[in-house]
Amino acid sequence: MRSIYADGLANIAGANDLATLEAVRVRFLGRKADLVLLLRSIPELPVEERPEVGRVGNVVRKYLESAVEARHAELETEELVLGLERERLDVTLPGRASPLGHLHLVMQTQREIEDIFTGMGYQIAEGPEIETEYYNFEALNTPADHPARSLHDTFFIEGEVLLRTHTSPVQVRVMEKQAPPVRIICPGRAYRRDSDATHTPMFHQVEGLVVDERITLADLKGTLETFVRAMFGADRRVRLRPHYFPFTEPSVEVDVSCMMCDGDGCRLCKRSGWLEILGAGMVDPDVFRFVNYDPERYTGFAFGMGIERIAMLKHGVNDLRLFFENDLRFLRQF
Ligand code: DAH
Repeated sequence: MRSIYADGLANIAGANDLATLEAVRVRFLGRKADLVLLLRSIPELPVEERPEVGRVGNVVRKYLESAVEARHAELETEELVLGLERERLDVTLPGRASPLGHLHLVMQTQREIEDIFTGMGYQIAEGPEIETEYYNFEALNTPADHPARSLHDTFFIEGEVLLRTHTSPVQVRVMEKQAPPVRIICPGRAYRRDSDATHTPMFHQVEGLVVDERITLADLKGTLETFVRAMFGADRRVRLRPHYFPFTEPSVEVDVSCMMCDGDGCRLCKRSGWLEILGAGMVDPDVFRFVNYDPERYTGFAFGMGIERIAMLKHGVNDLRLFFENDLRFLRQF
């Protein structure tokens, strides 16, 4: 009994972690421990020995139990302290910054254009990218045999349904719903079957439309001059050249004086001193008839520009495809 006690105490003291201590407890106090077996065999002992063996045995068991308990508490505290030490946090260390992106150059340019026109009192209107021939062509006075309707340019989906080839159909949708005066810009994606350094199958446009009584070509020119100077700088000049669009009459192409050479002629403007930036014109009375506007009472102007083209000119980007390759080395520059 004495040796069981001494042995037990030594083992308990020597247990350096909770798992070892548990093994020691099982060995000295578990169901098959010598001490326990001894206590259980008391009924088989000579009668006179039973009280003494029982008394001493129970005392030894109690002492060993409380030694295990005490050691258990010690080890628990030790492990807690060790654990805290292991998981120590230095809350003064600087955190890991998550990378912050920024708007794509196309979207930045779109927002700039929107800011300039909303500053002049324009509303922003949007329309569907999946359109019908009616809105994309017909109601824009583009007859079925017009080259712009050829399969070559248009992504047809099914029958009359297509991907809009420009943002001009939004004009029609807005005029159908709203009586004049109208003063809107319509930014959005457009699609054409085309792919090279200056054409991508998807690109962005901003359409503009103003309709009221007594709107003239001078209003168009003044508006575009204001836009161009806000976008490209106060000393840019604007030039209108006669052109043809089915939905405007007269139609013009609009040039801005070259920002690289200031009109002297250089590589960018191909020696002409001018850069084409958009198409525009006075809304064709036939377009008004499609939306039940009275062409005797109302006149209006419209314009359409490619957002990527504006961004290319402003930032000296020479290949349209760069916008859509998602090379961060390119995108991060803006
Ligand atoms: N929709 C024309 C295009 O995509 C651009 C355009 C030209 C829009 C003249 C207009 C306009 O509203 O008046 O090429």
